[in-house]
Amino acid sequence: MSLLMHTLHVDLGERSYPLYIGRDLFVDSQLLAQHVPGSQVAIISNDTVAPLYVERVRNALGERSLITEIVLPDGEQFKTLATLTTIFDQMMAANHNRSTTIIAVGGGVVGDMAGFAAACFQRGVNFIQIPTTLLAQVDSSVGGKTAVNHPLGKNMIGAFYQPGAVFIDLNTLRSLPEREIAAGLAEVVKYGLICDLPFYQWLCQHMPKLLAREEPALAEAIERSCASKARIVAADEREGGLRAILNLGHTFGHAIETAQGYGNWLHGEAVATGMLLAMELSAQRGWVESTEVDTFRSLLQSMRLPLHIPTDMSPGDFLELMGRDKKVIDGRLRLVLLRSVGDACISDDVTERELLSFLAEHCSAE
Ligand code: NAD
Ligand code: GLY
Repeated sequence: MSLLMHTLHVDLGERSYPLYIGRDLFVDSQLLAQHVPGSQVAIISNDTVAPLYVERVRNALGERSLITEIVLPDGEQFKTLATLTTIFDQMMAANHNRSTTIIAVGGGVVGDMAGFAAACFQRGVNFIQIPTTLLAQVDSSVGGKTAVNHPLGKNMIGAFYQPGAVFIDLNTLRSLPEREIAAGLAEVVKYGLICDLPFYQWLCQHMPKLLAREEPALAEAIERSCASKARIVAADEREGGLRAILNLGHTFGHAIETAQGYGNWLHGEAVATGMLLAMELSAQRGWVESTEVDTFRSLLQSMRLPLHIPTDMSPGDFLELMGRDKKVIDGRLRLVLLRSVGDACISDDVTERELLSFLAEHCSAE
């Protein structure tokens, strides 16, 4: 039987939507039916997740005139326009119309692509997220950012397109590999660092329970993360200002992901190393204490997340890739730094010289 533990809301006027957090939620036919009104559904998943969960979603949908299952190859390297085209090809071949609901069942890669497909197919169809990784549950499924990668940059082609509901099901985390749990927890820690010191302190205390997937701790971490994300998105849906703080560590992290080849470093791993760099740069500016950097480094170590820049990346590689970041305005790089732990700021006064000398200290390659 399904158990609804929390319902949060992303407050965006007529595009507001609920985030349901609980157990066995997507087998709850009544709850699902409230958000899937038409008779046509396209379920988008990948070849790892589909065998685990898609049949249950399909059964919960009951009788519909058309249900198409679209199974993508698994991997960040397939988050491309070419894969998106295969989604449209299958939907067109099956005669989907504008009353279709697209349901994403998977991690952030599936969710970002399914969301972009929903934004584009016949200029926009109803969209539901069933995130099955921790990272997707606390971050990518909430807030309406959808995209595919370009060989020259992460998430460079996409749209803002909000889902109609998000079903966050704790049971799906049971089948997730350990490395993915740690990568998801990196994004959870991000919320503490950027806007919630008590949550960060709570995370430092409860990390062993979270790594062991103890349900009460996971439920609390997901609920507190989603509450922060929902609040920030409601205040600044299209990242005119505040929302950029959600990118703590991402400018460094995206450079690592792009340079290493999509999929080799997990997104959450690259973000973890990026957050450590952002904190070290903040410490260099005198904004956070070096003891706080040490505490954070130990936390990442306990999570077995990477602490160092890949050995083949030079300061020049970083600068080139960071220059393509979406936060660059008029050639000026904007970095998310920490004024203190629990209080992020967006800094546009880090000069190329300061950044190069900072990176030179942290890169082993020249
Ligand atoms: P992912 O989607 O690649 O999933 C990680 C792996 O876990 C994959 O192999 C997947 O098949 C597998 N998997 C998923 N659910 C599973 C389950 N329940 N059991 C077993 N295996 C499972 O990676 P991710 O970390 O979920 O998402 C990363 C992506 O999200 C990146 O592309 C990143 O850019 C994007 N992202 C988007 C936003 C946003 O706001 N839209 C925010 C953060 C990250
Ligand atoms: N993960 C960044 C954002 O949603 O804005």
